Order: sequence, then structure tokens, then C-alpha cells
Amino acid sequence: MNKEWLSGLTTNYIGQDLEYYEEIDSTNIRAKAWAKEGAKEGSIVIADYQNAGKGRLGRVWLSPKATGIWMSLILRPMLLPIEIPQITLVAGLSMCKAIQNLTGLDAKIKWPNDIVVNKKKVCGILTEMSATEKEISYVVVGIGVNVNNQTFDSSIPYATSLAAEGKSYYQREQIIKRFAEIFEKQYELYTQDRSLKSILKEYKNNCITLNKEVRISNTHEEYTAYIEDINTDGSLIITRSDGRCETIFSGEVSVRGLYGYV
Ligand code: BTN
Repeated sequence: MNKEWLSGLTTNYIGQDLEYYEEIDSTNIRAKAWAKEGAKEGSIVIADYQNAGKGRLGRVWLSPKATGIWMSLILRPMLLPIEIPQITLVAGLSMCKAIQNLTGLDAKIKWPNDIVVNKKKVCGILTEMSATEKEISYVVVGIGVNVNNQTFDSSIPYATSLAAEGKSYYQREQIIKRFAEIFEKQYELYTQDRSLKSILKEYKNNCITLNKEVRISNTHEEYTAYIEDINTDGSLIITRSDGRCETIFSGEVSVRGLYGYV
């Protein structure tokens, strides 16, 4: 892997400025620093290995050398901080489509933005931002994809890779390029009307969490609910087992299948 990786990329700005590291603590940490130094919208940090990769909800993200896509995208959208989780949904759909296009695997989205193949996780997204209540300075969308990993830590039994599921080796740069091209289009559609309206049908078609009974947990409770629908702001419409209908937002919540990860 080297800096010429993304040569021939046909986007206008996503991935046109690129920093590449053989080893780094976390591409999200570097992307935040680069954003503060003035990185342009669309800049990407990629690493071949992360020694301190970060996952959602304070978890560790294992990022072994030369196996996966460990990258962070810097954005500067004119949005409110509460709208930012929607960008993560856009990124999840874009990566899901890139994986489907290039591998032919039946990749699906586990709401809000995990990507699964055969009900096991291949991709996670961690979005961080710097903002005041009203204004965003920058957003960093950190994406991790297990591409050619062959071994998985026993602490994450629901993890897999594209190679393990597809019985094939995949070129990471092809997936990044396809993602960048799809994301640029979808991000523009999204930011134009500040609503997921234009991509929601496609998101729902690819979402494995819909019309299912699941376990939902947040910082103070865990309960069973049926997932009814997804709103244009990306929130979920659920019915609890006691019949109460509610809307839930992605934030600090985890949604699992009743009998497994999905
Ligand atoms: C999750 O918990 O599902 C989110 C995982 C996000 C991992 C990616 S890898 C690239 C970027 N750098 C990090 O430290 N984390 C994200």
C-alpha cells in the first residue's frame, strides 16, 4: 500500500487530499489534528496498521497490518451537530454498496451503520466532530473494514472479513475508490436537502434491522422491541413488547438480534 493507491480516483474532492501511514495510533486521531490544521473537506487519512484503533461506545477496534481498510474522512458540512449521525448513515450505505459492487457479497446494513455479511460484522463506523451548539468546525468519519483478515480475536465472535466470507482476496484500494465515488454523490444529495429522503429507500432496502424483533440497550436499560421503520432523520421507529411506540436515535444505543449479533 502506498500513496499512489488512490490514483485515478474520479471524485471532485473526496479522497483528493490523502495522508497515508504505515502505522499510526488511530486515523481518527490524526484526521482530527489535520482538520484543526486546516485540512480541506474530503481529505482522507489511511493507515496500513492502527495500534490504538477506536470503536464505538469506547471499544477497541483491532486493525491488524495489511489486512483491512482503516481510514478517516474529514468533512465540513453546513449542518447542525444533531444532524451529524445522518452522515454516518450515508457513509454506511455508500460502503455497503461499494462492497456489494466489488465483491458480489450480500452485504447488509445493521442500523445505524455496521455492515454485515452472513450476519457477521465486516465494517464499523465511528464519527467524531468538533462543534459548538450551532456550528460545526469539522466532522471525522472513521471507517474500518475487515477485508483480507483470516483470523479474528476470540473476544469478537461475530466478526468476519470479506475474504473469509467470499473465499477470495480483495484489493483494498478498489473498495476505497468505489466508496469515495459513491459517497461523494450521496453526501451531496443529503446535504442539499438536509434529509435522508433521497437515499432512504435504498438504505431501507439494504437494512437488515427492519421488521425484526431485537434487543435494544442503552446506558440505563435493555429491552425487546420490534423495528417498524426508519425516519428521514435516520432514527428508528420501534414498538416495545409492552406496546409502546417510540423513536430512537443512534447515539449511545446498541441494537442486537434476539439470538445473535443480527
Ligand atoms: C465500531 O465500533 O463499529 C466503529 C469502528 C470504527 C473503526 C475505524 S478504523 C478507522 C478509524 N480509526 C479509528 O480509530 N476508528 C475508525
